[in-house]
Amino acid sequence: MPVSIQVSPDNFQDVDYLMEEVGLKFPVVVKPVYGGYGDGVLKLEGMEDLKGFLNRYYERNSSNLILQEYIPYRHDVRVFVIDNRVVCAMERIPKNDWRANCSLGAETRRFSIGEDVEDLLLKGVKKVGAHIVGVDVLIDEEGNHYILELNITPQFRNIMRYVDIPLEIVKYIEERLSSNNHRF
Ligand SMILES: Nc1ncnc2c1ncn2[C@@H]1O[C@H](COP(=O)(O)OP(=O)(O)OP(=O)(O)O)[C@@H](O)[C@H]1O
Ligand SMILES: [Mg+2]
Repeated sequence: MPVSIQVSPDNFQDVDYLMEEVGLKFPVVVKPVYGGYGDGVLKLEGMEDLKGFLNRYYERNSSNLILQEYIPYRHDVRVFVIDNRVVCAMERIPKNDWRANCSLGAETRRFSIGEDVEDLLLKGVKKVGAHIVGVDVLIDEEGNHYILELNITPQFRNIMRYVDIPLEIVKYIEERLSSNNHRF
């Protein structure tokens, strides 16, 4: 995972110390804890911008924010996992924005992830314990992988271009029901 911290209304004044403690450097990505579609996800280049933003934000809000190391990514990939198996991986290619959300105009293509990455993310999925998971992975120029997020209620409208996800989910449910050990 990228280096990340959370800030709250109680500690945001000390953001420089909090960042120093974990070695979080600029640029940083600021994002709401609960969010989607790239809304409210910002990239900030320096402490002055960050402090200005946090002061303005906490005049009106009281929710926590995530501050995260910016990964200069080459590929932003959504991996769809059903029952600990990768069903499809899709790259989102940003257009006119640094964020690769489809809602912000990103284009998509089918992507093939390496076996080592697959092992890594399936381990993560196992820990979460969910059966249907969308994993967001960033891959940088050197091929390093960073897991951004594990979504346990993943959307599949875009990935449906490549794989019939509802069909895969139905197949999985059928398999589970017909096996001896059909606990969900
Ligand atoms: N640490 C990071 N480094 C580089 N780019 C990032 C980083 N975090 C997010 N991004 C970019 O911004 C996009 C949106 O961020 P993120 O996926 O965290 O939020 P979201 O899409 O709004 O929320 P969610 O994925 O939970 O629905 C990502 O798809 C990625 O392209
Ligand atoms: Mg996202």
